[in-house]
Amino acid sequence: MASGNGSNFEALVIASRNQVVKADISLLIVNNPNCEAIKRAKRLNIPFVFLNHKEFSSRIDYEKEIIKHLKNNQIEGVVMAGWMRIVSNRLIDAYPDRLINIHPSILPSFRGIDAIDQALKAKVKLTGCSVHLVEAEVDSGPILIQAAVPIYQTDNKESLSRRIQTQEHKILPMGVSIAGRIWRRS
Ligand code: GRF
Repeated sequence: MASGNGSNFEALVIASRNQVVKADISLLIVNNPNCEAIKRAKRLNIPFVFLNHKEFSSRIDYEKEIIKHLKNNQIEGVVMAGWMRIVSNRLIDAYPDRLINIHPSILPSFRGIDAIDQALKAKVKLTGCSVHLVEAEVDSGPILIQAAVPIYQTDNKESLSRRIQTQEHKILPMGVSIAGRIWRRS
């Protein structure tokens, strides 16, 4: 599930095609019809569906629709990679421990939006990214993997985002693999 650029989505698809992660990335769900992620899905030949949250009167109804698409496509695990909407228990309970999120900070630091700005403003010397299982509270849940990224004095949002994303593209496939091992045990 993605709302924006979709670079993590693409990294996951490439990793699955290179057998780095044993998964079939079989569907992209987006909530933004103009997002770059759609262009990537077309180029990569991955089916996608645009679900417009504005057409639904409640978050629950919207998530029911998402779940319908996931189930119809026999989706076993879901990755939120830049999905800019809070999810409710409806979706979390439909995919217990099978809903993964990537966040651009070392959780539990800097939860919520603008995590990179938050780190810059806090003047910390180290930040990074986290892949975790999703629980009801925003950006919380068991952490699968994290990567640390130093913050340099010369950094701005753009330079830091770039370095964090490089790490995200590495740890997201790893995090999905770790989750897969947990799922196979349960
Ligand atoms: C990533 O930084 C991710 O951590 C955050 O949203 C961003 C999505 O980037 N949740 P992209 O759309 O995958 O390029």
